[in-house]
Amino acid sequence: MGVDGIAGLRAGRYLGRMPDVTTTDATMGGTADRLRILTVPDPVLRRVARPVGEGDGDAVRNLVPRMLAAMYAAPGIGLAAPQVGLSLRLAVIDLQRDDARAPMVIINPSIIAASTETEPHEEGCLSLPGQFADVVRPRVVTVRYLDEAGARQEVTADGLLGRCLQHEIDHLDGVLFVDHISALKRNMILRRLAKSLRAKEG
Ligand code: NI
Repeated sequence: MGVDGIAGLRAGRYLGRMPDVTTTDATMGGTADRLRILTVPDPVLRRVARPVGEGDGDAVRNLVPRMLAAMYAAPGIGLAAPQVGLSLRLAVIDLQRDDARAPMVIINPSIIAASTETEPHEEGCLSLPGQFADVVRPRVVTVRYLDEAGARQEVTADGLLGRCLQHEIDHLDGVLFVDHISALKRNMILRRLAKSLRAKEG
C-alpha cells in the first residue's frame, strides 16, 4: 500500500480489483455510464478515503476518464473520488484557463507545506450545488502526489490552483468547504441546499 504500491501502476501489473466500496454499486454501473455526482448529506462524502494501492490500477484507469468527463460536464474545476461514491484518495483538477483543457490527476496527495499567511476566497462545490461561501485557507501550499502514470510529483501553488488542491484534498478526508466557516453560515447553507434539492426532486 502507499507510495511503493503505486509505483506498480506504471508497470501495469495489477490485477485490477475494484475498491471495497459498497455504496458505489449504483454509480459505478456500466463503464459507459456517466458518473453521478453525490450531494450532501451522502455519507460517503464524510468518510476518510483510503489510499490508492496495489490492486487499484484498473480501477484508477477506468475511473479517471469518467471523473474528468463528469467534472467537465458539471461543469467544475475539481472532482474528488468520494464525490462519485468511491472512497479512494484520488481527485482530478482542471482550471480550464482560457477554455484550454489541462487535466491534473492527483493520487494519494498530501500537503507537505502550507504558508502561515492565509487569505479568504469564495468557494463552491459540486456536492453542494448552488452554494458558495468565503473560505479562509493558507495562501500557498506544497502538495506531493502521484500522477496517473504513478510518478511522484510535487507542486507549489497559490491562487486558484492552491485553493483547488486544498479543497479536493479536504474531500479525501471527508471535509467540505462549509466545515471551514461559522456554524451559523454552515447551517444556513445546508438548510438552503436541502430545500433546493427537495424542490429539484419535485
Ligand atoms: Ni468540492
